[in-house]
Amino acid sequence: MVFWGPGQVVAILLVIIVILVSAWMYFRLTLVKCDSTADMKGKTTIVTGANSGIGFYTALDFAKRNARVILACRDKGKAESARQEIVSLSENSNVAVGIVDLCSMKSVRDFANKILSEESRLDVLVNNAGVVATGKPKEMTDEGLEVIFAGNYFGPFLLTNLLLDLMKKSAPSRIVNVSSVVNKFGSIDFENLNAEKSYQFQNRYFDSKLAQILFTRELAQRLEGTGVTANVLHPGSVATNLLRNLFFLIRVPVEFFIKLFCRTAEEGAQTSIFLSVSEEVAEISGKYFIDCDVRESEANPQSRDMGVAKKLWEVSERLTGLSSDN
Ligand SMILES: NC(=O)c1ccc[n+]([C@@H]2O[C@H](COP(=O)([O-])OP(=O)(O)OC[C@H]3O[C@@H](n4cnc5c(N)ncnc54)[C@H](OP(=O)(O)O)[C@@H]3O)[C@@H](O)[C@H]2O)c1
Repeated sequence: MVFWGPGQVVAILLVIIVILVSAWMYFRLTLVKCDSTADMKGKTTIVTGANSGIGFYTALDFAKRNARVILACRDKGKAESARQEIVSLSENSNVAVGIVDLCSMKSVRDFANKILSEESRLDVLVNNAGVVATGKPKEMTDEGLEVIFAGNYFGPFLLTNLLLDLMKKSAPSRIVNVSSVVNKFGSIDFENLNAEKSYQFQNRYFDSKLAQILFTRELAQRLEGTGVTANVLHPGSVATNLLRNLFFLIRVPVEFFIKLFCRTAEEGAQTSIFLSVSEEVAEISGKYFIDCDVRESEANPQSRDMGVAKKLWEVSERLTGLSSDN
């Protein structure tokens, strides 16, 4: 057996501390910020999941740039308190609340119809809302969709499609989809798209984040020549409420690490903001971004399979009921 003396223990601890502090400093110094000063006066924007985390800071940024901002949230109370905070921090009173539960295609339709009847334009749509875990076993909605995939992918798919004509009318306009680096662990299995064969919450999250990228690529192709762009991003590892439904023995240590070594929600919002406002990307569409930069090599190779993207679109049209509109 090896016994270390007190001097050796102190030396090892010092080395660990130096490594951790260096890693922390490297992480802080390499953070990327959207440096665009673009003003959004006269523009209307929608941010889903804007009551919390990355969505809140994305919406706050748009409000500070003088946009009309619609906070698309599922909980009226949380949405209203976020609205009040954004109005007070931005000194822009043109901030509204819209209620939508992205797991429910009926709710998505009601929300989209309200937007179409009340808004004359839509310049930026940020599909930001997301859920990792529900904290319950496999859950299906009344409409027969598995909840995690519905909230992360089917809802945003339907919402975007229902708002497309308004966005085309408002062109140049932009769609920004918030995916995740974990798309790399996902795969699209058309036999299990709705968890028919198997269910593990983390796989549903990974697969739905891959689906968002495939959706963005197919959408960008369909939008060519319309003046509407669609891009997708990973926001980085961000300290938010995203893991709130995980089992506490996993959540507590992970959240502790995240608080120390991950970016704040405001820092995590930078790529969403960049894709929504920067002149640099005005003409770019169908790309995967990290840290305000195209990072195609870091996306799941299946995300470039346009055969899968096309099939996913067609299946999604059917499962969300969009095909019966056309
Ligand atoms: N945090 C990270 O490290 C990280 C990393 C990669 C990707 N992302 C992605 O970033 C996006 C924002 O997440 P966040 O980290 O900011 O987490 P967050 O603080 O938990 O925010 C998620 C937002 O989505 C909303 N939401 C969830 N399900 C919804 C539904 N069915 N209908 C409408 N709204 C719904 C939540 O509303 P409630 O408050 O009512 O629940 C909340 O406003 C997500 O798409 C996430 O996948 C985050």
